[in-house]
Amino acid sequence: MKVKSSFFCSNCGAESPKWIGKCPSCNEWNTYTEEIIEKKTQQEEKEKVWKSSKKEKAVPKKLDEVGTLSTQRIDTCDAELNRVLGGGLVYGSIILVGGQPGIGKSTLLLQLALKQKMKVLYVSGEESEEQIKMRADRIGNNNNDCFIYTDVNVNNILREANKLEPDIIIIDSIQTLVSPYIESTPGSVSQVKECTGELQRFAKETNIPVFIIGHITKEGGIAGPKLLEHIVDVVLQFEGDQHYAYRILRTLKNRFGSTDEIGIYAMDVYGLREISNPSELLISPDDSHLSGSAVAASVEGLRPLLIETQALVSPAIYGTPQRSATGFDLRRLSMLLAVLEKRCGLPFGQNDVFLNIAGGIKVTDPSIDLAVVTALISSLQDIHISKKICFAGEVGLSGEIRPVSRVEQRIQEAARLGFDTIFVSSYKAELLARKSFDVEVRMLSRIDDLLKEVFA
Ligand code: TYD
Ligand code: MG
Repeated sequence: MKVKSSFFCSNCGAESPKWIGKCPSCNEWNTYTEEIIEKKTQQEEKEKVWKSSKKEKAVPKKLDEVGTLSTQRIDTCDAELNRVLGGGLVYGSIILVGGQPGIGKSTLLLQLALKQKMKVLYVSGEESEEQIKMRADRIGNNNNDCFIYTDVNVNNILREANKLEPDIIIIDSIQTLVSPYIESTPGSVSQVKECTGELQRFAKETNIPVFIIGHITKEGGIAGPKLLEHIVDVVLQFEGDQHYAYRILRTLKNRFGSTDEIGIYAMDVYGLREISNPSELLISPDDSHLSGSAVAASVEGLRPLLIETQALVSPAIYGTPQRSATGFDLRRLSMLLAVLEKRCGLPFGQNDVFLNIAGGIKVTDPSIDLAVVTALISSLQDIHISKKICFAGEVGLSGEIRPVSRVEQRIQEAARLGFDTIFVSSYKAELLARKSFDVEVRMLSRIDDLLKEVFA
């Protein structure tokens, strides 16, 4: 048999017939490695391993004759997961769950397997049966129809899956799987590609949904990488800070729903707990009249989320003042400080500035600016801001308060949580003025207004 080899970029998966130093598609250096792609993937040989009884030959069909999928969704018994999947699990779909090592991917999916009332096959190439059992005991609730299988050969896995006919398959993780048709090491680009391709063929022919766990490279891409993202139907990312309990499950791609949804969990000693009211946890209840904190009415995905921002401003001891931010973009913090210095003459240039977003949650919503600015001024001037006030607005370079999306939703969430006042941008004020809310809505057009209204 002819041995064929090719070179692949280990960062982005691009292929080249010869070795090259710099990848033309992702511009990384020294990422090309040779991989042997033996035996041109023989379809017949693969079909000997497992053959679906349900398979029928595809013929062109009228669109009207095609049945809809929308009504057939599996309830995963996990409200947060159902939400990010767009209302439940679609039959025959492939879901990639990515995340950094130790964030809780195995826990999330084992928990899913244990909560189900259906037959689930959990395949692990990373842990032994005993280790999985230990974890399952820790999580509790036992599904009698949960099968554990530890193997890495994709042919064996699919043969067993075909015999067992489970309702859901979970693969932990794609980087440990190997296909006997390919000679390269597990986790290499060609292995990951081939194994995912086989899993996809299985899912589509048997209509069994498959969850695949994938590790993330240090740059944040799913290892083995971009090419996986377009093979699968749904890409979920599990993120959070290992030192905090909160975890966010984000949709990066979804063929069956929106990508705006997030699921929020907390990791505790008995596994992951669903958090349906995140705002209540992210604001510290104690009202100790300390300065330097302000509450932001932000929106993550489609959900309003009230988050506490904390700042500490203190005179710089060394020549260059320090700036540090956790959960917030450092460059954006520098920009906000420059705006405060230039437009309001506040002396941040002589001070060290530390900024922290509660709960270890990373916020990308620009509406948090106004709360950050308020927390900064509050710390600088040592003035306490009541925890009954919250803020939603983006701050522009000339010190203007810009409007943010879904402002009504933010106001309603603030009202629901019992806030007294919410500060928003005065842009299109008349639209908001016409509505009535259970919370006082106050409008700001510039940072100077904030100084007058809040710090006067
Ligand atoms: P794990 O699911 O193994 O992460 P991944 O598969 O993404 O690598 O989760 C690892 C962490 O979760 C581990 O550091 C311990 C913690 N953990 C808990 O805090 N409580 C629990 O009940 C479980 C099962 C794990
Ligand atoms: Mg794991």
